[in-house]
Amino acid sequence: MNDKPTLAILGGTGKEGPGLALRWANAGYKVLIGSREAAKAEATAAELNTQLGIDTVEGLENAEAASRADISVLTVVQSAHAAALESVKDALQGKILVDATARVEFTDPRPPEPPSAARLAQNILGSGVRVVAAFQNVPANTLKKNLDQPVKTDVLVCADDVDAAEQVVALAEAGGMTAYFAGGLDNAVVVEGITALLIAMNKHYRGHGTVQITGVQKP
Ligand SMILES: NC(=O)c1ccc[n+]([C@@H]2O[C@H](COP(=O)([O-])OP(=O)(O)OC[C@H]3O[C@@H](n4cnc5c(N)ncnc54)[C@H](OP(=O)(O)O)[C@@H]3O)[C@@H](O)[C@H]2O)c1
Repeated sequence: MNDKPTLAILGGTGKEGPGLALRWANAGYKVLIGSREAAKAEATAAELNTQLGIDTVEGLENAEAASRADISVLTVVQSAHAAALESVKDALQGKILVDATARVEFTDPRPPEPPSAARLAQNILGSGVRVVAAFQNVPANTLKKNLDQPVKTDVLVCADDVDAAEQVVALAEAGGMTAYFAGGLDNAVVVEGITALLIAMNKHYRGHGTVQITGVQKP
């Protein structure tokens, strides 16, 4: 019997979603890959199962994945943010939705205007869903390599509901990341903006810089 929450990765067929899915499936979580097309989700799930030598990752249409999950993580392309949320709104009621959206263009990295993507998500989903912002600064390629080692980036977790945020902090840590509660949902626009800093730095220095926090003693 698996007492861990079941996870859905909505839009889990792209770059960031499979990276997170790999980490959590490897840590023993039941992971459901969501897509607009069930067949596309099934193909990604099969690839992840093959890579990990397991058979527990499943692929489903987004709303079906959200309805079967305890916690869903949104990793759709930025331009589909609102439409994707509308398509899973009913399935998410009473649950946690984690928004990984960073509204920053690689070609012209600038901080997005407030409100945060996660605040916009909360407005769309309504008060029946506990929205948490996380993983906006975690590069997909960092998640996918060295699965047995910690991820060399920290995760800043923002939510108005501190209990929901702490559940996502625990989830990030189960996936090999160090994570910190970093304030309410409106703070998440700053976290999105850090992605602009990282892209600019990594272009200038041809590097793979990530975020690491120092000086905070976690309990
Ligand atoms: N890539 C990174 O390193 C990274 C790091 C941190 C955060 N993020 C954030 O994670 C999110 C996903 O990034 P990504 O690079 O993984 O994106 P991506 O590969 O370009 O796309 C992810 C998924 O979005 C879905 N999608 C595309 N158009 C859609 C539409 N009109 N409606 C609903 N779903 C649609 C697709 O899934 P289906 O076709 O299967 O439906 C696609 O596989 C973004 O918000 C990004 O800011 C990315």
